[in-house]
Amino acid sequence: MSAITLKEGIYWLGAVDWNVRNFHGYSTHRGTTYNSYLIVDEKIALIDSVKAPFYNEFMTNLKSLVSLDKIDYLIMNHLEMDHSGAIPLILEHLPNAELIGTNAGKIGYEKTYHRQQKMRVVNDGDSIKLGKRTLKFIPIPMLHWPDSMVTYCPEDKILFSNDAFGQHLASSQRFADLINTHVIYEEAAKYYANIIMHLGVVVNKTLDKLSNVEINMIAPSHGVIWRDKENIARIISNYRRWASGISEKKILVIYDTMWGSTDKMARAILDGIVSKGIDAKLCNLTYSDRSDLIREVLDAKGIIVGSATLNNGMLPNVAAFLSYLKGLKPANKIGAAFGSFGWGGGAVKAIEAEMKEAGIALEPSISCRYVPNEDEIKKCMEFGASFASKI
Ligand code: FEO
Repeated sequence: MSAITLKEGIYWLGAVDWNVRNFHGYSTHRGTTYNSYLIVDEKIALIDSVKAPFYNEFMTNLKSLVSLDKIDYLIMNHLEMDHSGAIPLILEHLPNAELIGTNAGKIGYEKTYHRQQKMRVVNDGDSIKLGKRTLKFIPIPMLHWPDSMVTYCPEDKILFSNDAFGQHLASSQRFADLINTHVIYEEAAKYYANIIMHLGVVVNKTLDKLSNVEINMIAPSHGVIWRDKENIARIISNYRRWASGISEKKILVIYDTMWGSTDKMARAILDGIVSKGIDAKLCNLTYSDRSDLIREVLDAKGIIVGSATLNNGMLPNVAAFLSYLKGLKPANKIGAAFGSFGWGGGAVKAIEAEMKEAGIALEPSISCRYVPNEDEIKKCMEFGASFASKI
């Protein structure tokens, strides 16, 4: 896509990745974008770049806006390759540009691209004057890498937020207010759940830090730009809610089954939950996308995980899901395990151990030998109803 003007002298010139469907394991059903911004003043600054395969398209856009030798600064808000991938190549064509980033960014850059790079290292509150505009740097370490920072333009009140407030969403539109509201907030929630959920403490600290910063536009490095008051307030408020682990009255029953017994248990547990008037979802891991499920986890209060026993442990789909969940450590959840077995069992204990490591407060589990009979189905329903009463 061609570059567009955000404000006089400020341009978007990233790349739209319409076809990406897997972003290091995260399913990007709607593609994504890599957003870069150019600010043309007495001095000229480029903020972030694009993933390396989009280098040519990016350079065409850049050259359409400015002569390359006129660019004074290339600001690297974040080292991850979806944003910095094209920087080594771009720098070869910017004879007068100074690379700017955090100290962790400098260390990471040299280790990633295997080249010594002269770079201006900036700290919290450092700024550069471009002319009538200023760019101020605010490191946000571990949101979500050690090198991460945001750049703020006080004159226009624009926050170039990099990954924060982003969404994996390819679109011909560049602004959130031009996108279907459900779509944009679902993608923002999925992005938060899969990339940022385990960093709630850091997110809250960052939001505190930004609370005194007046923001008229949030320009992230993925997806569309938030430019109107209502959407800016809503996405910040959502981040605060997610970071604080505030959930809805919703329970997920997540499981895999071998010969259908655990499936029967799951359905009975769901019926029990629903009988208490609580919203619930049945998620068979054979058919469910892991990163879509994590988005559901974000605002579910209860997570019940089940598996048939296989070789004294859980089924591989359940193990993979719990491994992912453990890394993302959802806050303030309650959970329980269930499953069927034939002789020795093992799945339920293994699930409980993983859920405990994920920081989930555990309620008692339920197991069933071989195929559940009528009485055992009733017990599963009671189990679901009892769990629902804790929500
Ligand atoms: Fe979009 Fe952390 O990279």
